[in-house]
Amino acid sequence: MYNSYKITVKNIDETAKLAQALGDLIKVKGAFICLYGDIGAGKTAFARQIAKHLNVREKVTSPSFVIINEYLSGDIPVYHFDLYRLEKEGVKTVVDELLEYSKPGIITIVEWAEFSDIELPYDRIEVKIEVTGETERTFEFKGIGAENIAVIEGLKS
Ligand SMILES: Nc1ncnc2c1ncn2[C@@H]1O[C@H](COP(=O)(O)OP(=O)(O)OP(=O)(O)O)[C@@H](O)[C@H]1O
Ligand SMILES: [Mg+2]
Repeated sequence: MYNSYKITVKNIDETAKLAQALGDLIKVKGAFICLYGDIGAGKTAFARQIAKHLNVREKVTSPSFVIINEYLSGDIPVYHFDLYRLEKEGVKTVVDELLEYSKPGIITIVEWAEFSDIELPYDRIEVKIEVTGETERTFEFKGIGAENIAVIEGLKS
């Protein structure tokens, strides 16, 4: 079961507002979020805004070269993966770790989850970011599983 929600934002400030709204809806129970979109679409920017809103004090940077960044200074632990550099072969080496990060009470954000051959956790939120203008982005959210469906409904209202 899943639902979806599509919204276009005009600039980075509106992206921040959207990230805040999502952050508020997941900051207690946590969530496993997969971010999709071309290079420069705004995946890291969106992750950064979620973390910032949850009072993460560390600077949120792209985890491309370290694969995972952990932010433990905020309201809820935030784990930020970027599978781009690993490509499909390398992802096998972090699969167990990645699946361990799907559990209640933490937020896990994965960039380039399409590089993962493995089956993703069923309960997840997928976010597709499309560049539709210089600073305009179209976000398509998909909530999979009952809790995430409720989150996406919350985002709509
Ligand atoms: N509305 C917007 N939302 C998000 N980012 C925006 C927006 N408008 C402009 N930008 C800019 O787009 C760029 C997005 O870069 P970002 O590193 O977040 O992309 P990415 O999807 O993580 O790319 P990569 O695949 O390389 O990891 C930033 O320079 C950001 O300032
Ligand atoms: Mg990125």
